[in-house]
Amino acid sequence: MSESTPWVVCKFGGTSVSSRARWDTIAEVVRTHRNEGRHPFLVCSALQGISDQLEVLVREATDGDPRPTLNTIRDRHRALAADLEVDAETTLNEGFERLESLTEEIMQEDSPSPRQRAAVMASGELLSTRLGVAYLSAQGVPVEWLDAREFLRAKDDANVPPRRQYLAATCASHSDPVLQSHLNDNPDTLYLTQGFIASNALGETVLLGRGGSDTSAAHFAAKLQAERLEIWTDVPGMFTANPSEVPSARLLRRLGYDEAQELATMGARVLHPRCLGPVKRHRIPLHIRSTEDPKVDGTIVAGDGPDVGPHVKAISAKDEVTAVSMDTLGMWQEVGFLADVFQIFKHHGLSVDLVATSEANVTVTLDPQANALDADVLDRLLHDLNQYCDAELIRSCAVVSLVGRHIRSLLSDLGPAFEVFDEKKVHLVTQAASDLNMSFVVDEEQAPRLVRELHAQFFGAKAPDAIFGPRWQELVDSVDADGRQPDAWWRDRREDLLTLADEQSPRYVYSEATIREKSDDVHALEAIEQPFYAIKANPHPDVLRLLEEEGVGFECVSPGELDRVFEAVPDIDPERVLFQPNFAAPEEYAEAFERGVHVTLDNVQPLVERLAIFANEEIFVRVDPGEGHGHHRHVRTAGAQSKFGVVPAELERLRAAADRAGTSVVGLHVHVGSGITDEDTWADLVDFLASLATDFPDVRTLNVGGGLGVPDRPGAAPVDLDSLNDVLNEAAARHPQYTLWMEPGRYLVAEAGVLLAQVTQTKAKGPVHYIGLDTGMNSLIRPALYGAYHEIANLSRLGDALSVTADVVGPICETGDVLGHNRQLPDTDPGDVLLVATTGAYGASMANHYNLRPPAEEVLLSDD
Ligand code: LLP
Repeated sequence: MSESTPWVVCKFGGTSVSSRARWDTIAEVVRTHRNEGRHPFLVCSALQGISDQLEVLVREATDGDPRPTLNTIRDRHRALAADLEVDAETTLNEGFERLESLTEEIMQEDSPSPRQRAAVMASGELLSTRLGVAYLSAQGVPVEWLDAREFLRAKDDANVPPRRQYLAATCASHSDPVLQSHLNDNPDTLYLTQGFIASNALGETVLLGRGGSDTSAAHFAAKLQAERLEIWTDVPGMFTANPSEVPSARLLRRLGYDEAQELATMGARVLHPRCLGPVKRHRIPLHIRSTEDPKVDGTIVAGDGPDVGPHVKAISAKDEVTAVSMDTLGMWQEVGFLADVFQIFKHHGLSVDLVATSEANVTVTLDPQANALDADVLDRLLHDLNQYCDAELIRSCAVVSLVGRHIRSLLSDLGPAFEVFDEKKVHLVTQAASDLNMSFVVDEEQAPRLVRELHAQFFGAKAPDAIFGPRWQELVDSVDADGRQPDAWWRDRREDLLTLADEQSPRYVYSEATIREKSDDVHALEAIEQPFYAIKANPHPDVLRLLEEEGVGFECVSPGELDRVFEAVPDIDPERVLFQPNFAAPEEYAEAFERGVHVTLDNVQPLVERLAIFANEEIFVRVDPGEGHGHHRHVRTAGAQSKFGVVPAELERLRAAADRAGTSVVGLHVHVGSGITDEDTWADLVDFLASLATDFPDVRTLNVGGGLGVPDRPGAAPVDLDSLNDVLNEAAARHPQYTLWMEPGRYLVAEAGVLLAQVTQTKAKGPVHYIGLDTGMNSLIRPALYGAYHEIANLSRLGDALSVTADVVGPICETGDVLGHNRQLPDTDPGDVLLVATTGAYGASMANHYNLRPPAEEVLLSDD
């Protein structure tokens, strides 16, 4: 190495410095750069999770007992030292002692000062870099530890509140010939320093804001006039969407500085937005790479490149955003209103992100990354704003943004994606003056679905090119070839399934063992006295017999379903059967009473007009709690848009009618939708029903419905039955006088079922490759009806490399006859058997004979 050897600054994030394997990758990166004639300079973050622990420590130092957290922090570092085989005492003791004395100092205070907080938080990087230096030098690398605070000096600005000066300081980014010549004195030494920390004019420690290590690295790149900056993290670059939400997200191979800045600001957590300024100013290319997958080239952020017209590069989402809505009638034609209110934000040290104004309202968002949004600050802000207007906080918002160039001209493409908002509110829409983004502020829970819809619209069928690289799925699959549902039962039963498909295709196959397993899960809900299976999910007689053996009851919604239950299980006690139709002819209720099953009414009219049918009977009443939930608007079965249930305001009328008829209301029922994963939903419904039951003295049972979701795609969250058990137990304890029932459908059978179909033809048409099957929307209509996702695998070639991206389609004469878009599959030929997973619920039961093509027949696969 010589003085003219170019510098490369490499920043390693929390996960990249937290294990020996990752430090070996770092050593490898250093070697590669040296071999290729570059002089590496390393900037490291704290171990993963340590900054959070340090925040807890600061809190506990004034408000509790900080010792357990201090021990956790020490243990984490000692464990890594042991893993790296370096001496923990000599490497870490000085840092530990400093942290202990800072903690003791804070314990004397009522609340920690920003200076003290910064000093504690800096410990994470100081400790991790000590470990790194010890390990690399033990590996024979000549390495020197640099204290970043000696070289990174924060800007001194008396107008900035102390909080920001210490916790979110800014530095100037200049070339630094002094540092360059200092480092060039020992050209063979590797220098390793800390991210996130700097010093002020008094020599005190300050921070560059959470995630500020990227910014530190960018400043060092500018100081050294580096040939490039590399940000090494746990994902191999920036993607067209967050890959954990959208597995088909594409790697962005190249981005301009402005686009990357926009994406980083809009929530892509790979880069800290502030790091782009220095590299853009000095025209230093920035490479994003992954220590998990160092071979992938990643994203290069460099000069803006040619303008290729309107282009969406990514859909981003940023959550935990707080919006502030300010209503005022006095603003119209008023001079200075905006100046006044923005002055208040400034006064509280809050930086405003998005703004929308009309003559009667101004709404802004506050980004948690840029602001310390604790309750006190927000209370004071509201108090001051209320002097000028009627201000209100809207918590738990998400900002969903389209990022790219000339976004305005793409408005007409957006229409269908906004179907999601039929029932939900968009709090704010803004379009950046730079035309680099368009943003929508929505409730946080709406964001993932909106992102998926927008992503499918803009990137669904895009072929790879110089900008759009491989899909996240492909990158993962190259490591773990088609192991997306590695535990699925059907992998172990592949031979049996192929035999079954050989005998007959298409075919639904249900695993008996899986249904039994799921039934055990449901029985394990201690608060639920009796589970009922909603047979609409899958009324196959063998499935019903199996579940009856398991002690599950049945929920029916039509005379046909009642017939099916009594045919399949003739001896069943009618007490174990519910009849809960919607808009049924009154005679249906009469027949159900005849059979002796429990009857649920969800409208007052039949009771008022056909009193005789209900006279002296016992009924349940289905109530509408006002808000539905679920995976698609068609399956949200409560709220103004849904036809189900009696609204609470009507219950008084119902009670009067029931009294007249001598009908006794013995239970209340609610079912809010299907495919729900938030466990609190059902506990809240217990409270809701219990609050209404006080007006119905005969009510003994509360039925909180079904709707338990199952994961449909990699990384999707299942409903967690353990926490459901906990919250239901708590709810049951609040209302011990009632018996609780539930009626899941999907949960019991979805994962037990697969659809097997044979490939009839394949075709390439333009950029799209098609794989055609002997059945489609006539067997499985969920993808066409709800955009539902079902995993698809080539069962004949399970484990082969995934080499094609194809739309998997059926033979029905509709363009919507697609079972899966853009699926990664191995080379596939006619005759191969494809498996469509998680189709045990609402597959065969919703099948149809469209085009007079009979849907797949069904078979139960018994245990080995
Ligand atoms: N109880 C009642 C009153 C219901 O209406 C339903 C489903 C259930 C229980 C069972 O819900 P589950 O646990 O299966 O989510 N075809 C749609 C699902 C429609 C659900 C209709 N009602 C789909 O394929 O996603």
